This record gives sequence, C-alpha cells and structure tokens, in this order.
Amino acid sequence: MASHISLTTASLALFLVLLPTSYASPSVPESDIDLVEFPLNLEFLEAEFFLWGSQGYGLDTVAANLSKGGPPPVGARKAILDPFIRDVIYQFALQEIGHLRAIQSTVKGFPRPLLNLSAASFADVMNSAFGKPLKPPFDPYANGLNFLLASYVIPYVGLTGYVGTNPKLQGAASKRLVAGLLGVESGQDAVIRALLYSKAAVKVRPYGITVADFTYRISNLRNNLGKSGLKDEGLVVPPVRGAEGKSRGNVLAGDQFSLSYARKPEEILRIVYGGGSERNPGGFYPQGANGRIARSFLQKSKAF
Ligand SMILES: *[C@@H]1O[C@H](CO)[C@@H](O)[C@H](O)[C@H]1NC(C)=O
Ligand SMILES: *[C@@H]1O[C@H](CO)[C@@H](O)[C@H](O)[C@H]1NC(C)=O
Repeated sequence: MASHISLTTASLALFLVLLPTSYASPSVPESDIDLVEFPLNLEFLEAEFFLWGSQGYGLDTVAANLSKGGPPPVGARKAILDPFIRDVIYQFALQEIGHLRAIQSTVKGFPRPLLNLSAASFADVMNSAFGKPLKPPFDPYANGLNFLLASYVIPYVGLTGYVGTNPKLQGAASKRLVAGLLGVESGQDAVIRALLYSKAAVKVRPYGITVADFTYRISNLRNNLGKSGLKDEGLVVPPVRGAEGKSRGNVLAGDQFSLSYARKPEEILRIVYGGGSERNPGGFYPQGANGRIARSFLQKSKAF
C-alpha cells in the first residue's frame, strides 16, 4: 500500500516537473494563454509610469521579480504633483502591480519590454495629436494636469483591449481574471476622465488649448492609428456621440448603447507604437511589445 502511494506521488511529481510552466495552470486552456499574456505589455507600462510619476522609482525598486529580467524603462521621472493627484496615481501604481501579479500567477508571462517613458516620447504623441509640434514640447511630468492628460493616453487602450479579449476566452479562470482587470482598468479611466472633465474648459498652459480639446485630439489620434473606425471619444462631443445621442458632455466613452468599445491586439499595437503599424515598433515600445502575439507581427515584417 505504502509503496503504491509513494509511487503515485513520485509519478505525479515527475509529471508536474515535465509539464511546461505555461500549462501548469490546468484551468487556463492553451488557446487563452497568449490572450491573457498580451495585456502584460500595457500593465508594465502603466505600473512604471504611475510608480515613477508618483514616487520617483519603478518596479525594480518595489517588485523587481515582476519584471522577469526585462530592461528598466527609459526616461521615466517623478512628476510634480499635488498631494491629492500623487495619492491617486500611487494607488493606480499599486493596482497595476497587483494586476502584474495576477496575470503572472495565472500564466507564465514574459519579461518587461523596453519602455520609452521619456517626456519626449509623450511630446511625440501630443505633436501627432495636434499635427504640429507644441511649443514648448509637452512634458507629462511638469504638473498634475499634464500628468493626467498623459494618463488619458494609456489605461483607456488597455480597457478596450480587455473588452476585445473577453469573447475570445474559453476558460472560466481566464474570464474571471480578465473581467477583474477590466473592472479596475475602466475604473482608472473613469477617475482620470472625471478629474479632467472637471477642468474641461481650463486652458492648458502655456498652449492656450483647453483640456477638452486635448482629449478630443488624443482620442482622434488613437482612432486614426487604430485604423478600425471610431472607438475613442474625447470629453466633449457632438451630442449624437454622447450617451443616448443626447449629451455633449462625455465623461465616459461608449458606443451608441453606451457599451465600451473593443480593440484587437493589433489595433492596440498600432496605437502604442505611435505609427499606425503593428509591424513597426516605436513610441512607448522602441523594441516592440513582448509575448507571442506582439512578436508574431514583428517576425512577419522581418521575413519581408
Ligand atoms: C525574487 O527573486 C529572488 C532572486 O531571484 C528570489 O530569491 C525570490 O525568491 C523571488 N521572490 C519571489 C516572491 O518570487
Ligand atoms: C525615446 O523617445 C524619444 C522621443 O521620440 C527619442 O528621442 C529617444 O531616442 C527614445 N529613446 C529610446 C531608448 O528609444
């Protein structure tokens, strides 16, 4: 009896050792793995941007293991924030660390990609959004309002990605995870939008351009780069685009039924690479995003 049990235990242990780590969680079907891993790219970016912006240090200081050996971000800095905004952004940072842990404990994951979080990288986005160089160049780290405008650029993209991923998932554990990530990611987007909405008519210094116009331009840029129609809306819209076609105020973005828009990974890459192509890295990801989905687009272009 005893030898039978120990044999079973030994073969079970051997089985587990031979099992590739990414399949170690039986509740995540293989077809879900790449879909659940892909968002790590955005979660890494958000964790670093919010941590650096609020605290002046990044993941390597607070949870180095989560980077899985990926290079530290380039150009991230502590922002000049009032205590309220700093508090909110620090909470976002901690939430992103939780998200990284949640994803990495469900699937194997991959190393942090190289992230370009320099002021110049955000300035590039704003220049593209306005179709001309802002003078002086936009600096996300200069003050709270600028940091919120820069924050408008990212969590929303993650949100649309989770909405797009959900119907493709097979496993209950993956669906639960993605629903949980989507909930908090859209909460972050709502907080950012509400804070900006309270200043919609304020002119961003020294440009003399309103907060509402900044969000309109950034959303338009993302629509153009994503190349998949209208999935992004600023804080003030023609009433036909507002909830029930009746509101100019647009504190949350949504389709004609006020449902969140969905984006595919390639649309997300077109936006965060800054150039409208999932095959040409750049923008916040100078060497491209990581994981099988993002790398598959790069390999195709290299084969050319
Ligand atoms: C983090 O990494 C260190 C060194 O590689 C290791 O000793 C430690 O156990 C890791 N901690 C966690 C929580 O994985
Ligand atoms: C980061 O972006 C800025 C602005 O585009 C660029 O000048 C700089 O070379 C980039 N850094 C890296 C490491 O890609």
